[in-house]
Amino acid sequence: MSTEHNVALVVGANGVIGGNLIDHLVTLPGWEVIGLSRRGGVHTDRVRYRAVDLLDASDTRTELGDLTRVTHLFYAAYQDRPTWAELVPPNMAMLTNVVDAIEAVAPGLRHISLMQGYKVYGAHLGPFKTPARETDAPPMPPEFMSAQQRFLEQRQRGKTWTWTALRPSVVAGFALGNPMNLAMVIAVYAAISKELGLPLRFPGKPGAYDSLLEMTDAGLLAKATVWAATSERAENQAFNINNGDLFRWRELWPKIAAHFGLEVADPLPMSLSDVMADKARLWQHMVAKRGLKPLDYQEVSSWQFGDFVFSWDYDMFADGSKARRFGFHEFVDTEEMFLSIFDDLRERRIIP
Ligand SMILES: NC(=O)c1ccc[n+]([C@@H]2O[C@H](COP(=O)([O-])OP(=O)(O)OC[C@H]3O[C@@H](n4cnc5c(N)ncnc54)[C@H](OP(=O)(O)O)[C@@H]3O)[C@@H](O)[C@H]2O)c1
Repeated sequence: MSTEHNVALVVGANGVIGGNLIDHLVTLPGWEVIGLSRRGGVHTDRVRYRAVDLLDASDTRTELGDLTRVTHLFYAAYQDRPTWAELVPPNMAMLTNVVDAIEAVAPGLRHISLMQGYKVYGAHLGPFKTPARETDAPPMPPEFMSAQQRFLEQRQRGKTWTWTALRPSVVAGFALGNPMNLAMVIAVYAAISKELGLPLRFPGKPGAYDSLLEMTDAGLLAKATVWAATSERAENQAFNINNGDLFRWRELWPKIAAHFGLEVADPLPMSLSDVMADKARLWQHMVAKRGLKPLDYQEVSSWQFGDFVFSWDYDMFADGSKARRFGFHEFVDTEEMFLSIFDDLRERRIIP
C-alpha cells in the first residue's frame, strides 16, 4: 500500500457505500478525506465535507475549484430513477461533471475508483450466467454502470492516473435515507412484524426463498476499494467483491427471525412497497413507545429495493476469485454480518 500522503475525495459521502468508505479511510494513516454529496456533512478532525449538486456542471466546477490536492477520487454517488434506461443520463452526468472538475485542477490525481455492481452482468434483468466473471460481456445498453466504465476507460488513455471498478453484490452496512439498504429493509420489516404480533414471513417471490445469493459487507467493500486503488497490480481492472460465502433465504431467514425473537411462518409473496406504505403512523408510535431515534419513516424505508431483491427467483452470485488472485484476501461471514448490523441498529436506537 502507498505510504505517500493521499487526499481522497469520496463522492456519495452519505451513501451506504460512500459513508462506510469514509469510516474506513479515517482509520488509515496517510489519508486526508473530503466527503462530497448534496447534503454535505458535519466536519470532523479527519473529514471535511462539501455540499455540491453534481448534476450542475458549472456549480461543480466552481465548488470544487480549490480541490487541487486530490490524489484519489472514489466515486460512489447514485441517482435513482424509475427505469433502468432513465438511470443512464443523470448517473453519467454526475460522473462526467466531477471528473471534469477534478482533472482540471488536481495535477497530482493518481486514481479514480468507480463503484459498480452486478448490473454490469445484467443481473437486474433476469436469470444471468453465474458465477458472473469480470470477463463476461456487458448487457445490451442502456445500462449506466457499463457506460460509466467505458467513459473512464476512454478518459484514462494517455493520462497519468489509473482507474479501478468494484462490483459488489447487495451491500449491507449502516446508512439512513438510502434507496438501496437491504439490512434496513429486513430490520424494520422484522420490528413491525413483531409489533403487530406476526411471525416473520419471507415476502419474496416463490423461488426466491431457494435461490443462491451472496452479499457484500460495506466494511469489506471499503477495504477492497482502498486496496484496489492503491495496488499497482489492480490498475485499470474491474473486480467482483463479495463476502465469499453463498446462502439461501430458506436457511438464513429463520436465523434472522430468531435474532428478533420471532417465529417463522411460510413465505407469503407480497409487495413491501404496498403493505408497508401505511405503516408510517405505526412507526412513529413505535418510536415514541420504544424510545427510538426520532427519524422520519422515509429514512428507514427502502421497500422498493426490498421488493427488488426478494423478487430474485434465480441465482445471484459472481466469482470473487479475481480479487483474491490479485491480492485481496479478506472475507466476511454473511450470517454474522446481518446479525451484527441488526445489533448495531438496536444500539443506535434505530430499531427496538
Ligand atoms: N446499495 C447496494 O446494495 C448496492 C449494491 C451494488 C451496487 N451499488 C451501487 O453503488 C453505487 C452507490 O450506491 P449506494 O447504495 O451507496 O447509493 P446511496 O446510498 O443512494 O448513496 C448515493 C450518494 O450519492 C449522493 N448523491 C446523489 N445525488 C447526488 C448529486 N446530484 N450530487 C452529489 N451527490 C449526490 C447522495 O448524497 P446526497 O443525497 O446528500 O446528495 C449519497 O451520498 C450505485 O451505483 C449503486 O448502484 C449499490
